[in-house]
Amino acid sequence: MLTETTRARALADLPPVISDSLLALIAMANADPRPDKIDVGVGVFRDAVGNTPILKVMKQAEQRLFDTQVTKAYLGSAGDKRFAELLRPILLGPHAGDERIAGLQTPGGCGALRLGFELIRTANPNARVLMGTPTWPNHAPIIRSVGLEIVEYPYYDRDGHVIHFDAMLQSLGAAREGDVALLHGVCHNPTGADLDAAQWAEVTRVIAERGLLPFVDIAYQGFGRGLDEDAAGLRGILAASDEVIAAQSCDKSFSVYRDRVGSLFVKTGSVEATTKAMAHVFQRSREMWSMPPDHGAAAVHIILDDPKLKADWHIELDAMRTRINSVRQRIAAADPRLAYIGQQFGMFSMLPFSKDQVIALRERHAIYMADSGRFNVVGMADHSIDRFVEAVVETLDG
Ligand code: LMR
Repeated sequence: MLTETTRARALADLPPVISDSLLALIAMANADPRPDKIDVGVGVFRDAVGNTPILKVMKQAEQRLFDTQVTKAYLGSAGDKRFAELLRPILLGPHAGDERIAGLQTPGGCGALRLGFELIRTANPNARVLMGTPTWPNHAPIIRSVGLEIVEYPYYDRDGHVIHFDAMLQSLGAAREGDVALLHGVCHNPTGADLDAAQWAEVTRVIAERGLLPFVDIAYQGFGRGLDEDAAGLRGILAASDEVIAAQSCDKSFSVYRDRVGSLFVKTGSVEATTKAMAHVFQRSREMWSMPPDHGAAAVHIILDDPKLKADWHIELDAMRTRINSVRQRIAAADPRLAYIGQQFGMFSMLPFSKDQVIALRERHAIYMADSGRFNVVGMADHSIDRFVEAVVETLDG
């Protein structure tokens, strides 16, 4: 039996933790008192004046929820089932009616990723996860936390602004049957460099031929070209592979970041196998969070279940996408060396800066971007764009 002293020492001897770089950046930017600071670090949408407003349609849905909700009794491990049902046509398109695909509500896309990898580890602990680099900084910690091995391949050439497509195909082609191919559905984070339709087709073919398990992380649907266009890669994969996992997030598309609204969809080769897989999913989610938080998903449910609110959401989503793409064009037009930014998608692109240059931008110009050179194109208000571009061009000039 442990003594009190042993217990105390067990905690005192914990190893130090390297803090998550994005969370550290948020704290640093918040603490900077300079009024003209530019925070292009974390991935939240900001409007022309630099705010992250609650969508009008979300306010209406929340009001309706407040007025009509009569109980907060538990819903169960699947969360709000109607929420997951309503997401199906948006995410899965022509596959929405496929009964071999089942989904459940999760705490954000991050919860869906963790749950999906938990399911994979349960099914095949020897599966390795093929992960292109760079990727979202939380991917590797989530994968490692469930005990799966990661095989990295280079995805993007930050200086040449191109996808290392041959290396990607080669890595997928050399993988073992049952290995997992982690893919960004759209608006690649951190690079903004998405596969084009021909590249998706190649990747889809190789995954199916090699018998890999595709795991699509789709957190920015609607921020690239449009809802259907942004899900085309995932839908192609669903058409070609019997087993597919997708981690979806509403946090960005409904601007409900802190409410943590996401879902996990699992496809297997048969309804029976999917039912069995989902039993494991429910078991794992019960162990981790028991039941997902309700509020954000309940509000999204209200929006998607009401044709008028749904149409209004499309309008607000289109406006966010339009702003993302117009800021991209403005930055791209400022200097030929930034032209690639106009051809990329979503909130992020990368600048070819060293860590020292990123620190200098922070210290001299109060511009906060990730150490990797990733910046959020809509992190800044319109009135800050010129100052941002000037500082970036000055840094490029050396
Ligand atoms: C980001 O990449 O900035 C967002 O996805 C926020 C996060 O949790 O890292």
